[in-house]
Parts: sequence; C-alpha cells; structure tokens
Amino acid sequence: MEITLSSAGLKDWDGSVLIIGIFEGELEKQIQSFALPYKSYLNHRIKEQNFNAKVGEITCFDLPENSPRKLILVGLGEAKDLLINDLRNAAALSARASVGNNGKLGIYFPWDLFEPESATKAVGEAIRLALFKDLRFKSNPDPFLKADVVELIGINKSAEKSLSTISPICSGVELARELVGAPPNSITPTTLAEAAVQISKEYSLEAKVLNKEECEAKGMGAYLAVAQGSDLEPKFIHLIYKTKGPIKRRLAMVGKGLTFDSGGYNLKVGAAQIDMMKFDMGGSAAVIGAARAIAELKPANLEAHFIVAACENMINGSAVHPGDIVKASNGKTIEINNTDAEGRLTLADALVYACALEPDAIVDLATLTGACVIALGDEIAGLWTENDQLAAELINAANDSGEGIWRMPLQRSYKEGLKSMLADIKNTGPRAGGSITAGLFLQEFVQKSIPWAHIDIAGTVWAEKDRGLDPAGATGYGVRTLVKWACDQANK
Ligand code: BES
Ligand code: MG
Ligand code: ZN
Repeated sequence: MEITLSSAGLKDWDGSVLIIGIFEGELEKQIQSFALPYKSYLNHRIKEQNFNAKVGEITCFDLPENSPRKLILVGLGEAKDLLINDLRNAAALSARASVGNNGKLGIYFPWDLFEPESATKAVGEAIRLALFKDLRFKSNPDPFLKADVVELIGINKSAEKSLSTISPICSGVELARELVGAPPNSITPTTLAEAAVQISKEYSLEAKVLNKEECEAKGMGAYLAVAQGSDLEPKFIHLIYKTKGPIKRRLAMVGKGLTFDSGGYNLKVGAAQIDMMKFDMGGSAAVIGAARAIAELKPANLEAHFIVAACENMINGSAVHPGDIVKASNGKTIEINNTDAEGRLTLADALVYACALEPDAIVDLATLTGACVIALGDEIAGLWTENDQLAAELINAANDSGEGIWRMPLQRSYKEGLKSMLADIKNTGPRAGGSITAGLFLQEFVQKSIPWAHIDIAGTVWAEKDRGLDPAGATGYGVRTLVKWACDQANK
C-alpha cells in the first residue's frame, strides 16, 4: 500500500473511496464549503442518516456518479477537543469501513489544526495498520479488498518528509503482529531465531544466535531452567544495528520470548487462558519488529542491540520443580517458588547479557504479569524505571506513537516479598502488587549504573476485538514506541 499526498481539491479528486472528517455541529456548513459535485444528493441522504459527527460516529454513502464510488463521513467531535489520537482513531475507523473497495482511498481531515508532519505520520500509520489482516493460516480466505493507494488530500507539502517513515515503521509493526499471531507450533524458539536471522540478512544487521551449550557456558541457569521442560531447544537471539559513522548512543532492547507459556508445573488452569499463551513472546516480537524498522530507517549515530532469550515453558520429566534453586549468569541464586513466573527468569539472564554490552540505556518489554492487565487494562502498558529522564523519553515516544503507557512505582519496600529463606531471592512475591515485585525482581539483574526501564505489555499485546489502529488479534505493541525512542536518542 502506497501512501502519498494529493494536491487535488476535493471536487476533482478522482479516487474510489473518499473519507471526510466532520466536526460536530458543522455538518451542513462543511458540506457547503467542500463544493462537492453531488452536494444536493448528499444533503438529502445525510438528513436521512441522522449523522451528528460525534467522535467515533461514521456513515457511508454510495455515490451516484462514478468517481468516487463511496463517501465515508467520520465524526471528529468538537474542533476544540480534537487530539491527534482522535485523528488516528477516525482514520482507522473509516479505513475499516472502506474494506471491500480497492483502488485509491482519499482522506480529507482538518490538517491545519496539527503539524503537517505529525498528522501525516499519525494518519498514514493508522490507515495502514487498521487495514492489516492476517490470512496466513486460512486455506480459502474470504476476499479482503483494501486500498492500494492512500492519498492525504489538501495537506501542506511540508508533510512529505514524514511519508518515508510510515512504511518501515508499519512493516515492523506488521512483522511483530505476524510473529505474535502465529501459533506456538509455528513460532518456536528455533523459527523465531530463524525469522530474526532472516531480517538481519534482508536489512544488513549483525545476528548472533546462541544455542543451549553456549548459554550454559555463560552460566544462564535461570533462563535454561525455564527451557529444560520443553522438547524444543532454547535459542538466545541477538541482533545488532550499527551506524556506519560515529556512534553517540548505544541502546539495548530486550524482549521476553516465551513462544508458549503453559505455566510449567504451576500449570495455568481456570481463567488463565492457557490457549492465548502463544502471545507470551510479544516482547520479543516488538524488539525484532523494531530492529527491522530501525534497520530500514537507518538513523545516524546509533548502535542498537536487540536481545531475546527465547524458549518454551513446558512440562516433562526434566522440567523445573516448583522449589528448585538455580543460579543466574550474574551469580545470584533464585528459588523458583512458582514455575509460572518464568518470564522474569529468562529476562534475568538476558538483562545480565545486555549489561555486559555496556549500553547507555536498556529497555525491556515483556508480557510479564496478569496483574498488569488488571491494573491498566489492554490499552495501556505499565512502565517501571527509577530513571526519570528515561521515563520521560519513553512516555514521550509512546505518546507520539499513539501507544498507551503509564508509569508505575518500583516500591523498594516490596522487595521484602521476594526474600527467600534459602537462596538470594525467590522469583515470586505475594499476589498483591504482583507487577511491581516482578519489576523489582528484574532490577536485581541490571547494573545500577545503567539506566533501565521495564515495560509490561501483558495487556496491550493482544486486542480482543478491533480497537483504534489494532484489528482484533496481535497488536504489535511496542514497535512504534521503541523505534521513536531509538531514533530520538540517535538525534540527541
Ligand atoms: N505470561 C504470563 C503473564 C500473563 C498473564 C500475560 C495473563 C498475559 C495475560 C506470565 O508468565 C505469568 O504467568 N505470570 C504470573 C506470575 C505469577 C505466577 C506471580 C501471573 O501473572 O499470574
Ligand atoms: Mg507464566
Ligand atoms: Zn509468561
């Protein structure tokens, strides 16, 4: 799908579906001012539809003349309340309403209320991402006709600059969605590593994949304990992006990569939705998707590391027992009092590995705790860090990308809950504040001198039904925030 700017006026725009954003209470005035050729027909039809242009309201007409075939009016609410996120949502909603039509899709919004570059990026991404559909596993999919070309009508020419970032970023999000959406018999630690290596070849990244023996040699006892109950080999994935010229910032992005989480002997039962736990590699998908996008965008001054300790959490005769004590690669001993708190065990060794690279900052993304879903729901990820500047950078990157995020506390006193009678630490604290103790556990494996943030994406990784830019299913959450953050860092 190609996204471009159109200098045509509304009257002589010649595509097949036209989307127009309408302010509440200004419908008639706006329709008059647009000078559309089929105005009287429209006025008549709109009266019939009782369309009020409230936020999220939408109405569609088939037009009598040939071009365009279809008109979609989408409500923007009152002009004074309009946020860029409303533009995103309106674009996504109307893009969805255009499904069934191919050819050229035009979109006419009150661009002047925003900076042309940000509006273009927001709306362009929204349309492309809302029209994503995963048909890989259907043998006879229903036809899914969508626009081949999208034209932003009437926007200032200066918006052109941001057009070129839309495709790399959306391809990264789509890659993440495909990795997360794939079932656990398709995306395994090995095929996840293969996908990462494939990306590295296409976009000239450096790739390293460590096998089990190599991880043993590094003393990654926490990660390998999780992997030991599976018939599938763990794969430790490391992709590297490096600008040709001088490097000003070195960043590490770490993603939880459980290609399936059964819970282990603390098996997931009841409401735990074990069948959804293919999405437990959403952090790794975000990191690999970001790697793909960054490699295509080629920001200057940047060295970026993408790290995933991929494995499955399964049960067999050699699986971890609840109560086992293992040793992580920084020498800390861990009592595994709950085998279902496995993500933090894999991340422990991945974070130690990341610290050894001496980055300027580390961010990890993980579908870490059900408690985070309870706290923040499925549109907002939790952010934990003691570094105010890093928090501000990530919140800014997320807001700019339209991804929900909220900072949460790393309450030091809650470390009490992780005290083990026998080992240095146990992997699970009390139920209350479960996302906080998870973050505190991770902190034990990060060198204090390195700014580090943890983002819990347990809720945001998946959409139950269509919402905003996310069609139902895997969202690819995190790619846009990571890419924006990394590119901003490079420009500092
Ligand atoms: N992958 C899960 C977290 C999860 C739960 C993600 C629900 C998305 C939806 C994680 O490995 C897990 O099982 N966490 C446990 C931790 C508990 C045992 C301390 C949880 O949240 O129940
Ligand atoms: Mg678990
Ligand atoms: Zn898990």
